[in-house]
Amino acid sequence: MFPSSGKTKDVATPRICDVVWHDGEFIKWDDARVHVMSHVLHYGSSVFEGIRCYTTKRGPAIFRLREHMQRFLNSAKVYRMDHEWKVDDFCDAAIELVRRSGLEQCYIRPILFRSLDEEHPAFGVNPFPNPLACYIGAWDWGKYLGDEAIEKGVDVCVSSWNRLTPNSLPAMAKSGANYMNSQLIKMEALVNGYAEGIALDDRGYVSEGSGENIFTVSNSIVNTPPLSSSVLPGITRDSVIQICQQLGLTIKERAIQRAALYVADELFFSGTAAEITPIRSVDRIEIGNGKRGEITATIQKMFFEITSGERQPPGPWLTYVKEEKQSNNNGFKGENAKVTASSNTIAEPKAKLLAASIK
Ligand SMILES: Cc1ncc(COP(=O)(O)O)c(C=O)c1O
Repeated sequence: MFPSSGKTKDVATPRICDVVWHDGEFIKWDDARVHVMSHVLHYGSSVFEGIRCYTTKRGPAIFRLREHMQRFLNSAKVYRMDHEWKVDDFCDAAIELVRRSGLEQCYIRPILFRSLDEEHPAFGVNPFPNPLACYIGAWDWGKYLGDEAIEKGVDVCVSSWNRLTPNSLPAMAKSGANYMNSQLIKMEALVNGYAEGIALDDRGYVSEGSGENIFTVSNSIVNTPPLSSSVLPGITRDSVIQICQQLGLTIKERAIQRAALYVADELFFSGTAAEITPIRSVDRIEIGNGKRGEITATIQKMFFEITSGERQPPGPWLTYVKEEKQSNNNGFKGENAKVTASSNTIAEPKAKLLAASIK
């Protein structure tokens, strides 16, 4: 039977930031709108990011902000989205957005997409005539795979849908279009009563979840599929690899067969939204003893100690929003946001959208 909650249940969203960063300015949430004929709606032409900001004793701290913004730029580059934003501009913008949100913890969503020039509309697949638009929003977001998942783990399936092939839609670019594939995987899992689906790559090796990377633990060795298995180069995946190195655990990037999932001692997902979530069964086959494994628990503990600021991370992973110097432009580019190239232009910030009341 299809559990109807699978269709209606979403991640808890207690609060949404009421301002949105748009092309270098802050606008009201209600004004952050697009035309229905925008290129992105018809052809999936967007790239985006998902970043978590954690509560710490020193105030909100954004996890691996720079790495996320660099991946954002990389995704845009793959899709020939020419713009003049630099990684620092996006970092400054995200920091300022969190400051203005008043949220102690949140999920930050930058998105860059092909919009519509209403004076010179272009409706074809060719994306170049369409202007680019960039927004960053934020909201308080709960546990992605459910409140209990972090401790108890989730029941998942292997999807009948394959992950994208590297030369069709590159998994290493975080594009909106990739998430049609993710939606097929997720919907199939939900209607069959699972929390998540694991996709295989086009050769039949394990790739990743619809929105998470995956790790196996066998004989105390931690394994994860290589980037060539059509996985997103996850920032949390990289964090887990570094945490394993710190813990003295052997970590290997290698091709993983489907059957290796069933016989693993432990399995877990990693991702910004899912954080580190144990997997307790795959296709109704119990993994290990069906409970969170010891190595998973150790990695998870270290991860949450780092994100909460209680433990020194292996690198500069936390950006403490309240301690960051206010940059010269605070992520504002104002008139500089206008790109001079005739195509791929970022729309000029619309001063009229800037309600005086927004501080
Ligand atoms: C398809 C996919 N794989 C992996 C991940 C994990 O990546 P990260 O740890 O950078 O959030 C995500 C989440 O963004 C994702 O959507």
